[in-house]
Formats: sequence, structure tokens, C-alpha cells
Amino acid sequence: MILVTGGAGYIGSHVNKELNKQGYETVVLDNLSYGHDDFVKWGILERVDLSNTREIRRIFQDYCLEAVMHFAAFTYVGESVQDPQKYYLNNLRNTLNLLESMLEFDVEKLVFSSTCATYGNPTEIPITEEHPQKPINPYGKGKHMVEQILTDYSSAYGLRCASLRYFNAAGADPEGELGERHDPETHLIPLVLDAASGKREDIKIFGTDYPTDDGTCIRDYIHVTDLADAHIKALKYLEDGGKSDVFNLGNGNGFSVKEVIEEARKVTGRKIKATETDRRPGDPPILVGSSKKAREILKWQPKYDELTRIIKTAWEWHERD
Ligand code: UFG
Repeated sequence: MILVTGGAGYIGSHVNKELNKQGYETVVLDNLSYGHDDFVKWGILERVDLSNTREIRRIFQDYCLEAVMHFAAFTYVGESVQDPQKYYLNNLRNTLNLLESMLEFDVEKLVFSSTCATYGNPTEIPITEEHPQKPINPYGKGKHMVEQILTDYSSAYGLRCASLRYFNAAGADPEGELGERHDPETHLIPLVLDAASGKREDIKIFGTDYPTDDGTCIRDYIHVTDLADAHIKALKYLEDGGKSDVFNLGNGNGFSVKEVIEEARKVTGRKIKATETDRRPGDPPILVGSSKKAREILKWQPKYDELTRIIKTAWEWHERD
């Protein structure tokens, strides 16, 4: 069985679906603080908080676990600056709790949700795995610390981990069973779609004076189903005896905020009012990743790599949810 922490969240639920589709049995561990129980349509849901070491031990005792996929984490960059303790306790200490049980029960394979936020402000684009990691906020720092801990645990205890550094996860399950449902929502694509459906009056463009062609920030949007596929491939890599390693997961294509809004106008056929406002503090102008390594080693090939398809699946989910 595979333990999927945070499997009731956006990315975790898509991976949980894919695992089950591919014949794995799963147990989802989620405290449902941000996750949704209706997203756990496959496997068993255990409502457990990772701060509760006794409950974690019980899970490891009750189920015969072969590997862990660890998604459970807080993900609001801005909030991590306001309240770093909240982030270090949940994303760092609770990960140590999980690792403690993994070591005790000899579960040696881990796929870890990391992030391009561990790179900080990039000095080279596209960003490869060798790019220096200088995270600029507690969210990115905590994820970076976990990566470093995993390296030490791998050397000392024989743990084998694939740390996957996501760029901008977007889109929704093409079969319409899952999608993005954050509260509060801060991500560009769902907010643009809110403006398209009239749920919000407009989309605010955070900064138009960046050193990019149209002055707005450029991001690398990667479809959540492609991310899910990469996780299965990372698990198989570990099952085949692969050593601990890190992989970027992105499309390698950058789109500006204005391009995303324009594409959403085409996909939805709706008017979307855009209002130009000040920069949001802490946003790097350009984040585009190279996923050459994941393509070569994991044999991963994104299928939903066109922005149109990413926005289309997000829109179909948006209209359904
Ligand atoms: N943006 C707007 N208006 C909005 C929301 C976002 O203009 O209402 C812009 C942002 O300034 C940014 C781009 O749209 O330039 C994308 O913003 P998101 O909030 O959707 O995503 P981020 O790139 O800020 O964040 C993502 C992940 C984080 C991760 C971060 C790494 O969601 O978890 O990349 O930098 F930490």
C-alpha cells in the first residue's frame, strides 16, 4: 500500500486517483484543514494530523506500507512570511514526524513534494536542478530544509527519496472528477476563471513593469495530471532501485500573466476585466524550469502541455464545482 499524505488536496488527490488507476492501493492521510473529503474517491481516508506522532505510528502499524508520497503542507507563500512558525511546524517538524515512523517501520521509499520556490530569484533561465537554491520566503526555505534532511537521511539510513520541484501546478482532471478548490484562492488561473464566470468583478494584474516583453510576470504552468504521472514514474524509479534524487517538473514554456488572461478569454468566450495594480511583494519576474532530467531519467513526457488545454480543463472543473 502507498501512504498519500495530503491526498485530499489539489495535487495529492490527482496523484491518489492516478495511483489507484494504475493498480496501487492507497491510504490517504489528511487532516482536512485545507483538503476535501469528497476528493478522496479512491483508497482509504484516515483523518490524521501529522503533528500527532501516536496516530502516525498507528497508521504505520495498521497498514502494510511500501512507500510514502508526502504532499501535506501549507502552501501560501505570503502567509509563510507573516507567520513562519505555522509553516515550519507543519511543513518541517511534521515531516520529521513522518520520517520518524518511516525509519521505525522500515519504509524506505518517499516521493516528496518540493517546489521551484526553493530556488528563490533565479539567475539563469531555464532553471535546472543544479541552479543554486536560495529560497526567499519561509515556505521555500522549509521545503529546502526538508530536501537537505532527506539527503542526510538517505546517506545515513538508506532512505530513498525523489524530491519533485513543481513549477506552477494548474488545470484539472480531464475526466472532471477533481480540480482546484482553494480557500482562500490566490492562484492566477482559478482567479481569472472567477472573473470570467462573474464570481469576481475582475482579475488584478500584479505589476506591469517587470523586465519581460509585456511587463507582466512569466510562469511555467504544468498540468496537474502530468504532475500526477510524474509521481507514479518517480515511485517506479524508486521501486526499480533508483537512488535519492531531485527532479524539476515544469513544461519548459513560460507564459506571462497577460497571455494567461488572453488565453482564458479565448477558452471561455467570456469578457474578462483585467485591472493593473502594483507588484505583489516577493514575485520573481520569470520562473521557467528545465525538466530535461525528469524526461530522461523518469521517462516523463507531459501530455497537457498547451496552455489552452490547461485552462480548458480548469474551466470545465470551474463550471462544474
Ligand atoms: N497573479 C496576478 N494576479 C492574481 C494572482 C496572481 O497577477 O490575482 C500573478 C502573480 O503575481 C504571478 C503569477 O500571476 O506572477 C502566478 O501567480 P500564482 O499565485 O498563481 O503562482 P506563484 O507563481 O506565485 O506561486 C507558485 C506556487 C507556489 C510556489 C511558487 C514558487 O503556487 O506554491 O509558485 O514561486 F511557491
